[in-house]
Amino acid sequence: MKDKNVLVTGGAGFIGSHVVRLFVEKYPNYHIFNLDALTYAGNLESLKVIENKANYTFIKGDITDEVFINQLFQDYKFDSIIHLAAESHVDRSIEDPLVFVKTNVIGTMVLLNAFKNTWKDNFENKLFYHISTDEVYGTLGETGLFTEITSYDPNSPYSASKASSDHFVRAYGETYGMPYVITNCSNNYGQNQFPEKLIPLFINNIINNKPLPVYDDGNYTRDWLYVKDHAVAIDLVFHEGKKHETYNIGGFNEWKNIDLVTLLCQQMDQKLERVKGTSGKLITYVKDRPGHDLRYAIDASKINKELGWKPSVTFEEGLNKTIDWYLSNEAWLQSVTSGDYQSYYQKQYRN
Ligand code: NAD
Ligand code: DAU
Repeated sequence: MKDKNVLVTGGAGFIGSHVVRLFVEKYPNYHIFNLDALTYAGNLESLKVIENKANYTFIKGDITDEVFINQLFQDYKFDSIIHLAAESHVDRSIEDPLVFVKTNVIGTMVLLNAFKNTWKDNFENKLFYHISTDEVYGTLGETGLFTEITSYDPNSPYSASKASSDHFVRAYGETYGMPYVITNCSNNYGQNQFPEKLIPLFINNIINNKPLPVYDDGNYTRDWLYVKDHAVAIDLVFHEGKKHETYNIGGFNEWKNIDLVTLLCQQMDQKLERVKGTSGKLITYVKDRPGHDLRYAIDASKINKELGWKPSVTFEEGLNKTIDWYLSNEAWLQSVTSGDYQSYYQKQYRN
Protein backbone atom coordinates (compact mmCIF):
# COMPACT_ATOMS: atom_id res chain seq x y z
CA MET A 1 0.00 0.00 0.00
CA LYS A 2 1.48 3.32 -1.08
CA ASP A 3 1.23 6.55 0.95
CA LYS A 4 -0.58 8.30 -1.91
CA ASN A 5 -2.13 7.52 -5.27
CA VAL A 6 -1.27 10.56 -7.38
CA LEU A 7 -2.96 11.12 -10.73
CA VAL A 8 -0.91 13.24 -13.13
CA THR A 9 -2.88 14.24 -16.23
CA GLY A 10 -0.97 15.14 -19.39
CA GLY A 11 2.13 13.36 -18.12
CA ALA A 12 3.29 12.47 -21.64
CA GLY A 13 3.44 16.14 -22.60
CA PHE A 14 6.29 18.55 -22.20
CA ILE A 15 5.96 19.76 -18.59
CA GLY A 16 4.03 16.69 -17.46
CA SER A 17 6.85 14.33 -18.47
CA HIS A 18 9.27 16.27 -16.25
CA VAL A 19 6.80 16.19 -13.36
CA VAL A 20 6.18 12.46 -13.76
CA ARG A 21 9.89 11.64 -13.92
CA LEU A 22 10.61 13.78 -10.86
CA PHE A 23 7.80 12.30 -8.76
CA VAL A 24 8.37 8.66 -9.76
CA GLU A 25 12.07 8.90 -8.94
CA LYS A 26 11.80 11.06 -5.82
CA TYR A 27 8.78 9.43 -4.17
CA PRO A 28 8.96 5.62 -4.32
CA ASN A 29 6.33 5.66 -1.55
CA TYR A 30 3.76 7.23 -3.94
CA HIS A 31 2.12 5.53 -6.87
CA ILE A 32 2.11 7.85 -9.87
CA PHE A 33 -0.63 7.27 -12.46
CA ASN A 34 -0.01 9.11 -15.71
CA LEU A 35 -3.25 9.68 -17.62
CA ASP A 36 -2.75 10.99 -21.14
CA ALA A 37 -4.72 10.82 -24.40
CA LEU A 38 -1.46 10.87 -26.41
CA THR A 39 -2.53 13.66 -28.73
CA TYR A 40 0.06 15.02 -31.18
CA ALA A 41 1.71 16.67 -28.12
CA GLY A 42 2.07 13.54 -26.00
CA ASN A 43 5.02 11.21 -26.41
CA LEU A 44 5.87 8.18 -24.28
CA GLU A 45 9.46 8.28 -25.55
CA SER A 46 9.94 11.08 -23.03
CA LEU A 47 9.22 8.63 -20.19
CA LYS A 48 11.38 5.65 -21.18
CA VAL A 49 13.63 5.99 -18.11
CA ILE A 50 10.80 5.38 -15.65
CA GLU A 51 8.34 3.27 -17.63
CA ASN A 52 9.20 0.04 -15.81
CA LYS A 53 9.31 1.45 -12.28
CA ALA A 54 7.04 -0.34 -9.80
CA ASN A 55 5.43 2.90 -8.61
CA TYR A 56 4.42 4.05 -12.11
CA THR A 57 1.39 3.26 -14.28
CA PHE A 58 0.52 4.76 -17.65
CA ILE A 59 -3.16 4.98 -18.57
CA LYS A 60 -4.18 6.04 -22.07
CA GLY A 61 -7.41 7.99 -21.89
CA ASP A 62 -9.26 11.20 -22.49
CA ILE A 63 -10.11 13.55 -19.62
CA THR A 64 -13.32 14.59 -21.40
CA ASP A 65 -14.69 11.02 -21.28
CA GLU A 66 -16.86 11.24 -18.17
CA VAL A 67 -17.79 7.57 -17.88
CA PHE A 68 -14.19 6.46 -18.22
CA ILE A 69 -12.88 9.07 -15.74
CA ASN A 70 -15.53 8.24 -13.13
CA GLN A 71 -14.67 4.55 -13.39
CA LEU A 72 -10.97 5.35 -13.05
CA PHE A 73 -11.61 7.24 -9.81
CA GLN A 74 -13.68 4.35 -8.47
CA ASP A 75 -10.93 1.89 -9.34
CA TYR A 76 -7.95 3.82 -7.99
CA LYS A 77 -9.27 6.38 -5.47
CA PHE A 78 -6.67 9.00 -6.37
CA ASP A 79 -5.80 11.08 -3.30
CA SER A 80 -4.37 13.91 -5.36
CA ILE A 81 -4.38 15.18 -8.90
CA ILE A 82 -1.76 17.26 -10.62
CA HIS A 83 -3.75 18.39 -13.62
CA LEU A 84 -1.61 19.37 -16.62
CA ALA A 85 -3.51 17.84 -19.54
CA ALA A 86 -4.52 20.59 -21.93
CA GLU A 87 -4.40 21.88 -25.43
CA SER A 88 -1.53 24.31 -24.96
CA HIS A 89 -0.60 26.10 -28.19
CA VAL A 90 -2.00 29.61 -28.76
CA ASP A 91 -1.76 29.46 -32.57
CA ARG A 92 -3.75 26.22 -32.68
CA SER A 93 -6.40 27.79 -30.45
CA ILE A 94 -6.86 30.55 -33.02
CA GLU A 95 -7.46 27.95 -35.75
CA ASP A 96 -9.70 25.64 -33.72
CA PRO A 97 -11.01 27.14 -30.45
CA LEU A 98 -13.59 24.46 -29.73
CA VAL A 99 -11.11 21.69 -29.03
CA PHE A 100 -9.58 24.01 -26.39
CA VAL A 101 -12.95 24.46 -24.71
CA LYS A 102 -13.51 20.73 -24.81
CA THR A 103 -10.22 19.64 -23.27
CA ASN A 104 -9.34 22.63 -21.10
CA VAL A 105 -12.79 23.49 -19.76
CA ILE A 106 -14.95 20.35 -20.07
CA GLY A 107 -12.02 18.04 -19.32
CA THR A 108 -11.20 19.99 -16.15
CA MET A 109 -14.89 19.90 -15.14
CA VAL A 110 -15.03 16.13 -15.58
CA LEU A 111 -11.99 15.75 -13.32
CA LEU A 112 -13.35 18.20 -10.74
CA ASN A 113 -16.63 16.29 -10.55
CA ALA A 114 -14.94 12.91 -10.28
CA PHE A 115 -12.65 14.21 -7.54
CA LYS A 116 -15.50 15.89 -5.64
CA ASN A 117 -17.77 12.87 -5.86
CA THR A 118 -15.02 10.53 -4.66
CA TRP A 119 -14.01 12.55 -1.59
CA LYS A 120 -16.93 14.85 -0.74
CA ASP A 121 -17.51 13.21 2.65
CA ASN A 122 -13.93 13.77 3.74
CA PHE A 123 -11.44 15.92 1.86
CA GLU A 124 -8.69 15.47 4.48
CA ASN A 125 -5.22 15.10 2.91
CA LYS A 126 -6.69 15.38 -0.57
CA LEU A 127 -5.61 17.89 -3.21
CA PHE A 128 -6.66 19.06 -6.65
CA TYR A 129 -3.61 20.84 -8.08
CA HIS A 130 -4.46 22.77 -11.22
CA ILE A 131 -1.61 23.87 -13.49
CA SER A 132 -2.33 27.15 -15.20
CA THR A 133 -0.60 29.90 -17.09
CA ASP A 134 0.29 33.57 -16.79
CA GLU A 135 -1.64 34.15 -20.05
CA VAL A 136 -4.90 34.31 -18.09
CA TYR A 137 -3.85 37.78 -16.92
CA GLY A 138 -3.84 39.10 -20.49
CA THR A 139 -1.09 41.44 -21.54
CA LEU A 140 1.19 43.95 -19.82
CA GLY A 141 2.42 47.22 -21.28
CA GLU A 142 6.11 48.12 -21.17
CA THR A 143 6.16 48.04 -17.35
CA GLY A 144 4.57 46.18 -14.44
CA LEU A 145 4.35 42.53 -13.37
CA PHE A 146 1.55 39.98 -12.97
CA THR A 147 0.84 39.22 -9.30
CA GLU A 148 -1.58 36.69 -7.83
CA ILE A 149 -4.22 39.43 -7.53
CA THR A 150 -3.96 40.77 -11.08
CA SER A 151 -7.41 40.60 -12.70
CA TYR A 152 -8.00 37.95 -15.32
CA ASP A 153 -8.16 39.43 -18.83
CA PRO A 154 -7.44 36.65 -21.35
CA ASN A 155 -7.01 37.52 -25.04
CA SER A 156 -6.67 34.23 -26.93
CA PRO A 157 -9.05 31.27 -27.07
CA TYR A 158 -6.30 29.27 -25.32
CA SER A 159 -5.96 31.71 -22.42
CA ALA A 160 -9.73 32.16 -22.20
CA SER A 161 -10.16 28.40 -21.85
CA LYS A 162 -7.44 28.23 -19.17
CA ALA A 163 -8.98 31.19 -17.33
CA SER A 164 -12.34 29.46 -17.41
CA SER A 165 -10.91 26.27 -15.95
CA ASP A 166 -9.12 28.26 -13.20
CA HIS A 167 -12.43 29.87 -12.25
CA PHE A 168 -14.14 26.49 -12.01
CA VAL A 169 -11.38 25.12 -9.78
CA ARG A 170 -11.74 28.10 -7.44
CA ALA A 171 -15.53 27.80 -7.52
CA TYR A 172 -15.32 24.14 -6.47
CA GLY A 173 -13.07 25.21 -3.60
CA GLU A 174 -15.56 27.82 -2.44
CA THR A 175 -18.75 25.86 -3.07
CA TYR A 176 -17.81 22.34 -2.07
CA GLY A 177 -14.83 23.03 0.20
CA MET A 178 -12.63 21.08 -2.19
CA PRO A 179 -8.92 21.54 -1.38
CA TYR A 180 -7.07 22.98 -4.36
CA VAL A 181 -4.02 24.97 -5.38
CA ILE A 182 -3.44 26.74 -8.68
CA THR A 183 -0.12 27.83 -10.11
CA ASN A 184 0.17 30.28 -13.00
CA CYS A 185 3.49 29.91 -14.73
CA SER A 186 5.33 31.81 -17.45
CA ASN A 187 6.81 30.37 -20.69
CA ASN A 188 8.66 27.12 -20.16
CA TYR A 189 11.54 25.86 -22.28
CA GLY A 190 13.77 22.78 -22.16
CA GLN A 191 14.02 19.23 -23.38
CA ASN A 192 10.98 17.31 -24.75
CA GLN A 193 9.03 20.40 -25.86
CA PHE A 194 7.07 19.88 -29.05
CA PRO A 195 8.62 21.92 -31.89
CA GLU A 196 5.62 24.15 -32.48
CA LYS A 197 6.62 26.51 -29.64
CA LEU A 198 9.17 29.24 -30.29
CA ILE A 199 12.43 27.76 -28.95
CA PRO A 200 12.22 24.13 -30.16
CA LEU A 201 10.65 25.23 -33.47
CA PHE A 202 13.55 27.56 -34.13
CA ILE A 203 16.18 25.00 -33.03
CA ASN A 204 14.65 22.48 -35.44
CA ASN A 205 14.50 25.03 -38.26
CA ILE A 206 18.11 26.09 -37.74
CA ILE A 207 19.24 22.44 -37.84
CA ASN A 208 17.37 22.08 -41.14
CA ASN A 209 18.33 25.51 -42.56
CA LYS A 210 14.70 26.59 -42.71
CA PRO A 211 13.41 30.18 -42.22
CA LEU A 212 12.83 31.37 -38.63
CA PRO A 213 9.33 32.93 -38.73
CA VAL A 214 9.42 35.85 -36.25
CA TYR A 215 5.94 37.33 -35.79
CA ASP A 216 5.66 41.03 -36.66
CA ASP A 217 8.80 42.95 -35.59
CA GLY A 218 9.83 40.53 -32.82
CA ASN A 219 9.29 43.16 -30.11
CA TYR A 220 7.07 40.97 -27.97
CA THR A 221 8.31 40.01 -24.53
CA ARG A 222 8.04 36.74 -22.62
CA ASP A 223 9.41 35.58 -19.24
CA TRP A 224 11.21 32.24 -19.70
CA LEU A 225 11.61 29.46 -17.15
CA TYR A 226 13.62 26.24 -17.48
CA VAL A 227 11.13 23.37 -17.33
CA LYS A 228 13.00 21.41 -14.64
CA ASP A 229 12.75 24.48 -12.37
CA HIS A 230 9.00 24.49 -12.99
CA ALA A 231 8.80 20.80 -12.01
CA VAL A 232 10.66 21.57 -8.77
CA ALA A 233 8.22 24.41 -8.04
CA ILE A 234 5.28 22.04 -8.67
CA ASP A 235 6.77 19.52 -6.22
CA LEU A 236 7.10 22.26 -3.61
CA VAL A 237 3.59 23.65 -4.07
CA PHE A 238 2.13 20.13 -4.09
CA HIS A 239 3.65 19.41 -0.68
CA GLU A 240 3.84 22.80 1.00
CA GLY A 241 1.52 25.18 -0.84
CA LYS A 242 -1.37 26.65 1.15
CA LYS A 243 -4.73 25.18 0.15
CA HIS A 244 -7.16 27.47 -1.69
CA GLU A 245 -4.30 29.66 -2.88
CA THR A 246 -2.66 30.67 -6.12
CA TYR A 247 1.08 30.98 -6.72
CA ASN A 248 2.70 32.68 -9.67
CA ILE A 249 5.82 30.97 -11.02
CA GLY A 250 8.27 32.75 -13.30
CA GLY A 251 11.88 32.92 -14.33
CA PHE A 252 12.68 36.56 -13.44
CA ASN A 253 13.90 36.41 -17.02
CA GLU A 254 12.28 38.67 -19.60
CA TRP A 255 13.37 38.58 -23.23
CA LYS A 256 12.11 40.33 -26.32
CA ASN A 257 11.56 37.62 -28.92
CA ILE A 258 14.07 39.05 -31.36
CA ASP A 259 16.81 39.26 -28.69
CA LEU A 260 16.11 35.67 -27.65
CA VAL A 261 16.21 34.48 -31.25
CA THR A 262 19.48 36.33 -31.83
CA LEU A 263 21.05 34.64 -28.77
CA LEU A 264 19.72 31.27 -29.94
CA CYS A 265 21.20 31.81 -33.41
CA GLN A 266 24.61 32.65 -31.90
CA GLN A 267 24.60 29.54 -29.70
CA MET A 268 23.46 27.35 -32.61
CA ASP A 269 26.23 28.64 -34.89
CA GLN A 270 28.77 27.67 -32.24
CA LYS A 271 27.27 24.24 -31.58
CA LEU A 272 26.92 23.39 -35.26
CA GLU A 273 30.34 24.89 -36.03
CA ARG A 274 28.81 27.13 -38.64
CA VAL A 275 30.26 30.51 -39.66
CA LYS A 276 29.16 33.26 -37.24
CA GLY A 277 25.94 34.87 -38.52
CA THR A 278 24.76 31.84 -40.54
CA SER A 279 21.66 31.10 -38.43
CA GLY A 280 20.77 34.80 -38.09
CA LYS A 281 20.32 34.96 -41.86
CA LEU A 282 17.37 32.58 -41.49
CA ILE A 283 15.34 35.15 -39.49
CA THR A 284 12.23 36.04 -41.49
CA TYR A 285 9.62 38.52 -40.27
CA VAL A 286 6.11 37.17 -40.89
CA LYS A 287 2.60 38.42 -40.27
CA ASP A 288 1.61 38.80 -36.65
CA ARG A 289 -0.40 36.41 -34.49
CA PRO A 290 -3.95 37.83 -34.09
CA GLY A 291 -4.53 39.16 -30.56
CA HIS A 292 -0.81 38.80 -29.81
CA ASP A 293 -0.09 39.74 -26.18
CA LEU A 294 2.69 42.32 -26.02
CA ARG A 295 4.36 41.32 -22.79
CA TYR A 296 4.16 38.79 -19.97
CA ALA A 297 6.20 39.17 -16.79
CA ILE A 298 5.66 37.38 -13.52
CA ASP A 299 6.16 38.59 -9.99
CA ALA A 300 7.18 35.31 -8.36
CA SER A 301 7.93 36.82 -4.96
CA LYS A 302 5.11 34.96 -3.18
CA ILE A 303 6.43 31.46 -3.95
CA ASN A 304 9.93 32.74 -3.30
CA LYS A 305 9.12 34.17 0.15
CA GLU A 306 6.64 31.54 1.32
CA LEU A 307 8.19 28.38 -0.09
CA GLY A 308 11.78 29.43 -0.76
CA TRP A 309 11.62 28.60 -4.48
CA LYS A 310 13.74 30.28 -7.11
CA PRO A 311 15.04 29.24 -10.54
CA SER A 312 18.29 27.26 -10.38
CA VAL A 313 19.77 27.97 -13.80
CA THR A 314 20.44 31.13 -15.77
CA PHE A 315 18.78 31.48 -19.15
CA GLU A 316 22.09 31.06 -20.97
CA GLU A 317 22.76 27.79 -19.09
CA GLY A 318 19.23 26.51 -19.62
CA LEU A 319 19.27 27.36 -23.30
CA ASN A 320 22.64 25.70 -23.69
CA LYS A 321 21.37 22.48 -22.07
CA THR A 322 18.22 22.63 -24.20
CA ILE A 323 20.13 22.97 -27.47
CA ASP A 324 22.47 20.12 -26.47
CA TRP A 325 19.47 17.90 -25.77
CA TYR A 326 17.82 18.59 -29.14
CA LEU A 327 21.12 18.06 -30.98
CA SER A 328 21.68 14.71 -29.32
CA ASN A 329 18.05 13.59 -29.64
CA GLU A 330 17.45 14.07 -33.34
CA ALA A 331 15.56 10.76 -33.48
CA TRP A 332 13.01 12.15 -30.98
CA LEU A 333 12.76 15.34 -33.02
CA GLN A 334 12.29 13.43 -36.26
CA SER A 335 9.66 11.12 -34.78
CA VAL A 336 7.51 14.05 -33.58
CA THR A 337 7.92 16.07 -36.77
CA SER A 338 6.86 13.31 -39.13
CA GLY A 339 3.22 12.82 -40.14
CA ASP A 340 0.70 15.46 -39.04
CA TYR A 341 3.36 17.98 -38.06
CA GLN A 342 4.18 18.65 -41.72
CA SER A 343 0.62 19.60 -42.65
CA TYR A 344 0.27 21.73 -39.47
CA TYR A 345 3.47 23.54 -40.41
CA GLN A 346 2.42 24.19 -44.00
CA LYS A 347 -0.93 25.57 -42.89
CA GLN A 348 0.42 27.73 -40.04
CA TYR A 349 3.29 29.30 -41.97
CA ARG A 350 1.86 29.37 -45.49
CA ASN A 351 2.09 33.19 -45.82
P1 NAD B 1 1.75 19.91 -23.97
O1 NAD B 1 0.86 20.36 -25.07
O2 NAD B 1 3.18 19.63 -24.23
O3 NAD B 1 1.16 18.57 -23.32
C1 NAD B 1 -0.21 18.39 -23.07
C2 NAD B 1 -0.43 16.91 -22.78
O4 NAD B 1 -1.84 16.75 -22.50
C3 NAD B 1 -0.10 15.99 -23.95
O5 NAD B 1 0.65 14.88 -23.51
C4 NAD B 1 -1.46 15.56 -24.48
O6 NAD B 1 -1.45 14.27 -25.06
C5 NAD B 1 -2.32 15.62 -23.22
N1 NAD B 1 -3.73 15.83 -23.53
C6 NAD B 1 -4.27 16.76 -24.36
N2 NAD B 1 -5.60 16.62 -24.40
C7 NAD B 1 -5.93 15.59 -23.57
C8 NAD B 1 -7.14 14.98 -23.18
N3 NAD B 1 -8.31 15.39 -23.69
N4 NAD B 1 -7.10 13.97 -22.29
C9 NAD B 1 -5.93 13.54 -21.79
N5 NAD B 1 -4.72 14.07 -22.14
C10 NAD B 1 -4.73 15.09 -23.02
O7 NAD B 1 1.56 20.99 -22.82
P2 NAD B 1 2.63 21.60 -21.80
O8 NAD B 1 3.35 22.70 -22.46
O9 NAD B 1 3.38 20.49 -21.16
O10 NAD B 1 1.63 22.26 -20.74
C11 NAD B 1 1.12 21.49 -19.66
C12 NAD B 1 0.22 22.37 -18.82
O11 NAD B 1 0.94 23.50 -18.35
C13 NAD B 1 -0.97 22.94 -19.60
O12 NAD B 1 -2.08 22.93 -18.74
C14 NAD B 1 -0.55 24.36 -19.94
O13 NAD B 1 -1.67 25.20 -20.04
C15 NAD B 1 0.30 24.71 -18.74
N6 NAD B 1 1.37 25.69 -18.98
C16 NAD B 1 2.26 25.52 -20.00
C17 NAD B 1 3.30 26.44 -20.16
C18 NAD B 1 4.32 26.30 -21.26
O14 NAD B 1 5.12 27.21 -21.45
N7 NAD B 1 4.38 25.20 -21.98
C19 NAD B 1 3.42 27.51 -19.28
C20 NAD B 1 2.47 27.65 -18.24
C21 NAD B 1 1.47 26.72 -18.10
O1 DAU C 1 3.12 32.19 -20.92
C1 DAU C 1 2.84 30.82 -20.78
C2 DAU C 1 2.44 30.25 -22.10
O2 DAU C 1 3.61 30.20 -22.91
C3 DAU C 1 1.80 28.86 -22.00
O3 DAU C 1 0.61 28.95 -21.28
C4 DAU C 1 1.54 28.29 -23.39
O4 DAU C 1 1.06 26.96 -23.27
C5 DAU C 1 2.82 28.29 -24.18
O5 DAU C 1 2.58 27.85 -25.49
C6 DAU C 1 3.45 29.69 -24.20
O6 DAU C 1 2.64 30.60 -25.00
P1 DAU C 1 3.29 31.65 -26.02
O7 DAU C 1 2.30 31.98 -27.03
O8 DAU C 1 3.96 32.76 -25.30
O9 DAU C 1 4.48 30.70 -26.61
P2 DAU C 1 5.03 30.48 -28.10
O10 DAU C 1 6.26 29.66 -27.98
O11 DAU C 1 3.97 30.05 -29.03
O12 DAU C 1 5.45 31.96 -28.54
C7 DAU C 1 6.41 32.70 -27.79
C8 DAU C 1 6.55 34.06 -28.47
O13 DAU C 1 7.17 33.87 -29.76
C9 DAU C 1 5.23 34.76 -28.73
O14 DAU C 1 5.41 36.16 -28.58
C10 DAU C 1 4.94 34.43 -30.20
C11 DAU C 1 6.33 34.33 -30.81
N1 DAU C 1 6.45 33.40 -31.95
C12 DAU C 1 6.01 32.12 -31.77
C13 DAU C 1 6.06 31.22 -32.82
C14 DAU C 1 5.56 29.81 -32.62
C15 DAU C 1 7.01 33.82 -33.16
O15 DAU C 1 7.44 34.96 -33.29
N2 DAU C 1 7.08 32.90 -34.18
C16 DAU C 1 6.61 31.62 -34.06
O16 DAU C 1 6.68 30.86 -35.04
